[in-house]
Amino acid sequence: MKKYKVIGNPIEHSLSPTLHNYWIKNNGIDAIYEKQKLNENELEQIIDDIKEEKINGVNVTVPFKKKIIPFLDELSIEAETTQSVNTLYLKDNKVVGHNTDIIGFETSIEKSKYDVVNKKVLILGAGGVVPSIIFALNKMKVSKIRVSNRTKEKVQNLKKNFKNIELIEWGEIPNFDMIINATSIGLKEDDNIKLNFLSISGNRFFYDVIYNPSETNFLKTGKKLGNKTLNGKLMFIYQGLEAFNIWHGLKPDVDENVMKLLD
Ligand code: ATR
Repeated sequence: MKKYKVIGNPIEHSLSPTLHNYWIKNNGIDAIYEKQKLNENELEQIIDDIKEEKINGVNVTVPFKKKIIPFLDELSIEAETTQSVNTLYLKDNKVVGHNTDIIGFETSIEKSKYDVVNKKVLILGAGGVVPSIIFALNKMKVSKIRVSNRTKEKVQNLKKNFKNIELIEWGEIPNFDMIINATSIGLKEDDNIKLNFLSISGNRFFYDVIYNPSETNFLKTGKKLGNKTLNGKLMFIYQGLEAFNIWHGLKPDVDENVMKLLD
């Protein structure tokens, strides 16, 4: 039986095992997917386990997406550019780190039927997931990417790898077609981003990376003002689907049951 796992700290709330085990069962694959809470000093052991094929694939989550990099033999272009790795696999005896958050985000936009080409995008936050979102937006040919974060230095750091982004002071809301909440504000039901969207008319796209709760106050506000909204559930599902495809060589169905599994 093949073994897969997600590593992070904390890890209790990860829904990756639910998602992967559902697809494993549905496709009659002889495998199991588990979760493991680790400390940083255990990262090297995980890589050895992959080399020895004791584990066949690993998803990496917070806070190890960058910290895992020094232990890897090879990085995909996506992982290299974003300095963020969420999927590990063995290829020609080498442990490779890849980033499927990018395709997860991209596919979620495609599925939402929003035409992002030539659109002005404002990203709120500059944490771990933001490089992946910027990479995807550049690939999808948006016209402008602006990033606003409480701590300015993090945006300045992002600019080193993504020279085309523009820094916006926290609290300022320039005109945009699409706005993405990539902060952790909203994880708690009563969290509120203290920004004033009232001068923004409808026909914009409000996207929240958070999917639990399924509708943050940010999305509620967007909806109330007459805008299109989407939470991060599809992004999560499609990052998982791409990892599944890398490990098992098939793209599982995203049916109603999959959507319900994560509610
Ligand atoms: P990490 O930065 O460790 O990757 P994250 O959860 O991915 O963590 O990112 C949290 C994001 O939410 C950051 O952009 C953070 O802003 P700072 O860089 O200034 O910390 C943002 N964030 C969290 N709480 C916030 C708050 N109360 N007001 C504004 N931004 C907040």
